[in-house]
Amino acid sequence: MSMYSYKTEPLTDFTSDANVKKYEDGIRTVYTYLGESYDLVIDGKRVKTDKTLNSINPSNHQEIVGTISQASIKEADLAMKAALEAFETWKKVDPKLRADVLFKSAAILRKRKFEFSALMTKEAGKPWPEADADVAEAIDFLEYYGRQMLDMLKIDDKILSRRNLERNEYKYIPLGVGVVIPPWNFPLAILVGMTSAAVVSGNTVILKPASTTQVIGYKFIEVLEEAGLPNGVVNFLPGKGSEIGEYLVKHPKTRFISFTGSKDVGVGIYEKAAKLQEGQIWLKRVIAEMGGKDAIVVDSDANLDLAAESIVKSAFGFSGQKCSACSRAIIVDDVYDQVLDKVVRLTRQIKVGNPEKQEHFMGPVNDHLAFKKITSYFEIGQKEGRLLIGAEANDEKGYFIQPTIFADLKPDSRLMQEEIFGPVLAICKAKDFEDALKIANNTEYGLTGAVISNNRMHLEQARQEFHVGNLYLNRKCTGAIVGYQPFGGFNLSGTDSKAGGPDYLSLHMQGKTISETL
Ligand code: SER
Repeated sequence: MSMYSYKTEPLTDFTSDANVKKYEDGIRTVYTYLGESYDLVIDGKRVKTDKTLNSINPSNHQEIVGTISQASIKEADLAMKAALEAFETWKKVDPKLRADVLFKSAAILRKRKFEFSALMTKEAGKPWPEADADVAEAIDFLEYYGRQMLDMLKIDDKILSRRNLERNEYKYIPLGVGVVIPPWNFPLAILVGMTSAAVVSGNTVILKPASTTQVIGYKFIEVLEEAGLPNGVVNFLPGKGSEIGEYLVKHPKTRFISFTGSKDVGVGIYEKAAKLQEGQIWLKRVIAEMGGKDAIVVDSDANLDLAAESIVKSAFGFSGQKCSACSRAIIVDDVYDQVLDKVVRLTRQIKVGNPEKQEHFMGPVNDHLAFKKITSYFEIGQKEGRLLIGAEANDEKGYFIQPTIFADLKPDSRLMQEEIFGPVLAICKAKDFEDALKIANNTEYGLTGAVISNNRMHLEQARQEFHVGNLYLNRKCTGAIVGYQPFGGFNLSGTDSKAGGPDYLSLHMQGKTISETL
């Protein structure tokens, strides 16, 4: 099948007045449905429940973005039934048609790009460029996985070896019903990526959106419906992780779980999924993307401006709430003071406030729990290191935290070891490059990392020894692009799956060998 080649969706240039206007129009569109109520979607039908949840704007906790019905076990059972039934037909649907649903969804998102960006500003507190990049990434996932599915069809054309009078075939078939549990920090991109990969591979899905970004999840269900996805293939099931999430993870008919979120929740899912339940006739597959304690290493002969800029962008973009965020800067002794000085100067320029205003580089953090957790590290940081800037926060109206940096930390300190998931950067001095790499690897995670250096031998050493799933040289450690930098980490950062990579879809399938004697 001929198909134009994949290219990443361009980011919006907000220096253009026309684009600023489009974003403002997007905000106005979101206001037309602000505070509306949303139902579950099971087998294409809207289902109301007694229990509801208010999704609030983290920049203004008095503003309700939407009120969403919450599922209980009863609705989880209905969703499982619908997904099981739909699987019997969806698995047989021509993969080209399944890919077409993704291509059409991408086109719908493209048309509604600014509305989705604005909705993310409202519900997730995303500043303009971050929200815009999130929608672009969602479009990329749809375009990329659609093409990956078409590519996988070609495997049928591969010639296997054969003995005389024998016909051998090898093909990928889908797994079954998947429980998809995406995170709130990329409320469109990652939700779309995880869901579309499962669906285009021929599986059916029960989608449990993150509790703080359920309206965005619902809006994507509308996109899938408009794109022609049959009923029951994706069932929208917002609800409590400890109730329906756990129930579905343990359910004997669940075939796989696709999860992105914290290490603790991911480890719990892995453990529960491993236990064989009564009536279960397979081993569940778990695809998990978890946390990070990502480091940028600065070498003595690095471009120090590039180093400071890379650190600040990676540490404070979207308030440090990316699993890829730089939460540790490890700087060799020779240039330590100079880099600190540059990093603080750049950080001082950051404006924090309601992200509806374009000038705010940093918006709020996710919710009151995130606010409490992140600010609790202020005291720990003061004890363990030296405060350079920040450690100020205000939750009167929204959950705002100033960019915060602690220096002179020991490699084993809590600030250098624990994932804070907020705008708190820990800085540590290394004796030399060798020592810096050792400190960088001294963590239970292994997601992203960057090295800023002009020493070719050191870059080569990092290639071999820096144990992270995404290693970046002379650039920031956030912002992986679908199909360009497949994304996913080692160790307790996940199951080594690579979202937006050439082998991601195969995680949602199993290979079948057929050999006929002729
Ligand atoms: N893929 C994102 C990044 O690279 C994080 O999830 O920043």
